[in-house]
Amino acid sequence: MTAPEPGGAGIVLRDMTEADLPAVHRLEQVLFPDDAWTEQMLREELSGQPRTRRYVIAESSGGEIVGYAGLASVGGHADVQTIGVAPGARGAGIGATLLTELIDEAVRRGDEGLFLEVRVDNAPARRLYERFGFEQIGVRERYYQPADVDAAVMFRRLRERPPIGFTREDS
Ligand SMILES: CC(C)(COP(=O)(O)OP(=O)(O)OC[C@H]1O[C@@H](n2cnc3c(N)ncnc32)[C@H](O)[C@@H]1OP(=O)(O)O)[C@@H](O)C(=O)NCCC(=O)NCCS
Repeated sequence: MTAPEPGGAGIVLRDMTEADLPAVHRLEQVLFPDDAWTEQMLREELSGQPRTRRYVIAESSGGEIVGYAGLASVGGHADVQTIGVAPGARGAGIGATLLTELIDEAVRRGDEGLFLEVRVDNAPARRLYERFGFEQIGVRERYYQPADVDAAVMFRRLRERPPIGFTREDS
């Protein structure tokens, strides 16, 4: 699976494996200094692959992990579990490429819609999601601790509900 060369950087997307976890965890601590997941949390997420999870890595041509993203797909809906790009690799379309892969995966799984939570003060991420058609549907107050920051809950519909083809027998 090859990404469409975001920013001409020769970035490749591939599935995340257990062997990636130490490097992913190092990047996780850079990306989310307030509330980084532990390596064990990441391992538990990976153990759901492929049944309920899909985690992907963005790798440079030199083999460096420059980003990653994860999807949970349960009960007909999907959630963006995480998405992040190394500071030095931002603004080249890697975030967009990762998000596109998660959306495509949710569509392949037949999910009706995709949810995510984002810090209300995270302008770059909110712009990315809005560019991809996500709309804010609610706020979870003080969701991020210990930073004590609200989460915006965003949603993008992926397919229309099936048409109602039956009339109720009791009507
Ligand atoms: C949010 C995040 C994943 C975006 O990653 P990214 O790789 O910079 O995303 P993109 O490059 O696709 O888009 C970012 C900007 O670059 C621009 N861009 C995209 N491709 C480009 C290209 N080839 N050349 C120049 N600019 C480009 C986009 O237009 C966008 O601009 P905007 O923010 O003004 O709308 C990244 O900022 C990040 O990791 N943040 C920290 C972790 C985080 O907050 N994750 C989200 C948790 S909910």
